[in-house]
Amino acid sequence: MNVLFTPFQVGDLGLANRIVIAPMCQYSAVDGCMTDWHLIHLGHLALSGAALLTIEATAVLPEARITHADVGLWNEATEAAIARTLESIRRWSDIRIAIQLAHAGRKASTEVPWKGGVHIPPDHANGWQTVAPSAIPYQDGEHPPVALDRSGLTRVREAFVAAAKRAAGLGVDAVQLHGAHGYLLHQFLSPLSNRRDDKYGGSLENRMRFPLEVFDAVRAAFPAERPVTMRVSGTDWVNGGWDIDQTIEFAQALESRGCAAIHVSSGGLAPSQKIPVGPSYQVPLARAVKRATAIPVIAVGLITEFEQAEAIVGTGDADLIALARTILYNPRWPWHAAAHFGAHVKAPDQYLRSQPRQYPDLFDIGH
Ligand SMILES: Cc1cc2nc3c(=O)[nH]c(=O)nc-3n(C[C@H](O)[C@H](O)[C@H](O)COP(=O)(O)O)c2cc1C
Repeated sequence: MNVLFTPFQVGDLGLANRIVIAPMCQYSAVDGCMTDWHLIHLGHLALSGAALLTIEATAVLPEARITHADVGLWNEATEAAIARTLESIRRWSDIRIAIQLAHAGRKASTEVPWKGGVHIPPDHANGWQTVAPSAIPYQDGEHPPVALDRSGLTRVREAFVAAAKRAAGLGVDAVQLHGAHGYLLHQFLSPLSNRRDDKYGGSLENRMRFPLEVFDAVRAAFPAERPVTMRVSGTDWVNGGWDIDQTIEFAQALESRGCAAIHVSSGGLAPSQKIPVGPSYQVPLARAVKRATAIPVIAVGLITEFEQAEAIVGTGDADLIALARTILYNPRWPWHAAAHFGAHVKAPDQYLRSQPRQYPDLFDIGH
């Protein structure tokens, strides 16, 4: 009996199996509005057989975008664009859908990756003034961010709340807050990017304060029966930076505030990071959080093989696995995994005739 294809609950949200599609920026929005690309991209992933599809990092303010082509959810136009996309997807798939709400902080205002991804200063086309906990740029030589003052912090927190309310209205099943990869909430957590001398900087308690305030405000604004989760970087992979012990304290603080799950990634805060990239390289971080908390933990990062995924959930290192590049490369990965384990997976009616003869019970028909 495999575990990968057993159901799971994240709070009140029932999931058909343990496979999550990680958030993936597509840099294909216009003025924050999803385009046809998002319908194609999310639409095909919605047919994958995964249990949960996470919408890419979605900026809560225009200046919260990583690039000018990021998806946003800060006004009626951006909300309507997501509504159109979700309406089409929902017509053909009942996959559960989460949205990652994000603020890029000092890593905002960059070029799209396939045009080099470099930082764009505010006086150039497609650039703007960035904000951060402290006026320290991500890379030496970049135009520095402005340190957020009290009213700036309130504005950011309220933007997360407003986006969460819009997400609730869109019928999104869960919200994931982006606390990873060196973006704004992670910038508050890490002593490398947070040099504040007010109550939002210094001690671990102070560095966690703003991310926890955002969590509390979003949790209060999003319907109680729907999960709010957090994605974290388990370490900066830099000496003296954010690490797994601090991550565990953060996870425990989140758990006590009603966080429904923790998604454990890593890195992204500092260019000097040394990441030991390899299969399952972030699973030890997920395992450490799993051991120290009682809420569901999601592991991610170079999970490519069926038995590898099964081992992660089967041994209890994590409750769920998330796929990013793996599922872009092979969008039917969950179908192939189900065939491998003799399990069942959902397929759209239109594709039922594709079921291979050697797997006569593969498709979950009539549910
Ligand atoms: C095209 C692409 C876009 C991504 N965008 C996001 C994002 O919007 N938010 C996020 O937290 N991580 C993002 N990531 C990171 C992935 O969610 C994932 O954590 C990482 O790629 C490791 O998983 P993998 O080895 O299965 O790709 C992105 C990754 C890729 C490849």
